[in-house]
Amino acid sequence: MAVYQIVKIGDPVLREKAVHVKKINSNIEKLLDNMADTMYDAPGVGLAAPQIGVSKRVIVVDVGEGLIELINPEIVSASKKTAKEVEGCLSIPGVEEEVTRPLKVVVEGLNRNGEKITIKAKGLLARALQHEIDHLDGILFIDRVEKQN
Ligand code: NI
Repeated sequence: MAVYQIVKIGDPVLREKAVHVKKINSNIEKLLDNMADTMYDAPGVGLAAPQIGVSKRVIVVDVGEGLIELINPEIVSASKKTAKEVEGCLSIPGVEEEVTRPLKVVVEGLNRNGEKITIKAKGLLARALQHEIDHLDGILFIDRVEKQN
């Protein structure tokens, strides 16, 4: 078990576009293990590799329905229907804001065995997947908070 220090806002790695994983090797498997350990220790419902300083397209999510590990995840479709809920981020301690996002998404990616998996998600799981995939593109949830008029 290895729990990493979580990178906080202000660190440039959080603003980088993370690179695709070309080959799933023991380093990636170890990264997945350590990301899950770090997420559960925090505790949080999701973690993206840039949050432990690794600019690779790898995320872990567990909203209480079991651990999901995704390599090179992509949102392939999103519902027009949206939901507005309060979000936080382990990299932005103490900040919680309402964010509007699609209610449902379909996400594709690879599991640790290199097999393509498709996740049809709604509600909290859909939100967590979108939040973590945003991290891979250097986007933080505060970027999506609507401006108050
Ligand atoms: Ni986050």
